[in-house]
Amino acid sequence: QDAEYNNICNNHKHLLETLPKANGWKNRHLYNYNGFWLSPLVLKTNLLLHTYFKSHPTDIFLASFMKSGTTWLKALMFSTLNRHHYTFSDHYLHKHGPQSTFPLLDVESYPISDFTTFSPPRLFATHFARSLLPSCITSGKFVYVCRNPKDVLISKWLFMSKLRPKDIPPLSLDEAFELFSLGVSEFGPFWEHVLSYWRASLESPKKILFLKYEEVKKQPEVVVRKLATFLGKPLTAEEEEKGVVGEIVKLCSFESLRNLEVNKNGMEKFGKVVEIEKRDFFRKGEIGDWKNYLSDEMKERIDGITDDKFRGSGLSL
Ligand code: A3P
Repeated sequence: QDAEYNNICNNHKHLLETLPKANGWKNRHLYNYNGFWLSPLVLKTNLLLHTYFKSHPTDIFLASFMKSGTTWLKALMFSTLNRHHYTFSDHYLHKHGPQSTFPLLDVESYPISDFTTFSPPRLFATHFARSLLPSCITSGKFVYVCRNPKDVLISKWLFMSKLRPKDIPPLSLDEAFELFSLGVSEFGPFWEHVLSYWRASLESPKKILFLKYEEVKKQPEVVVRKLATFLGKPLTAEEEEKGVVGEIVKLCSFESLRNLEVNKNGMEKFGKVVEIEKRDFFRKGEIGDWKNYLSDEMKERIDGITDDKFRGSGLSL
């Protein structure tokens, strides 16, 4: 095993010397690995994931491009799946928040993180595009959530700017916009990421539930029912009668999650090295906040790229 691990480390080193490189939003550089831009740490984790992750047939994965509603979906999926284990007045999410309910595969420490003590169904989150995942994972059940690219761009720029080390010059919105339009941002290009899951969801609708942030926002109850059915625990008539769907929606709403003590003051650890203030995952939670940041020209450009990339796919955002 050590020899295997060392091989991966050597390969990682070699890749960093040879792969195309561009400016990162959080770290100084990103590397283009099989079509997607990854930080050095995440690239290494991807290599390790392929060798060490052991899937289980009951695993459930939540995939998303960063800032598309991952935290919200973690809360919704966790509380829908575990609705028999907690009461809505004294819930696991009240004490811990949603993040830790789904380990983020992209920053775990393999082979130490083996998740063998988790009870099924195990829940995992990932920001990797579908083509970067090993087949033992892509054969599993997925929920994918996407969001309008203009809102993603703004949410990501503000979030990454907070995490950017102080010794690197800040990334201006103009620079972030240029990079985003070229597809350069952590786990990007945005459009190829979304399409990778969209196409797979058309091929295997029973395996991949494809959601949009905007539809969750507009009709959260409908989405909770969809999730419950997809996750194999459809709502019963009795639960409908008791208003369980409404309770789940309320528990996971932006206001209730943001106002939890744990989310106001706590720190979240992702893997061993990434630490983020929990409050940074709850900013505004609205559709269309990009209007406060992007010019008409910028809007036109992003919309143009989205039209081009999604043409003929049946997808619109
Ligand atoms: P904004 O920055 O536009 O407010 P992710 O969880 O994928 O990192 O996405 C974060 C985005 O989802 C942020 O968007 C955040 O405010 C929003 N968000 C977090 N929890 C939410 C909730 N319960 N309902 C709606 N939006 C939520």
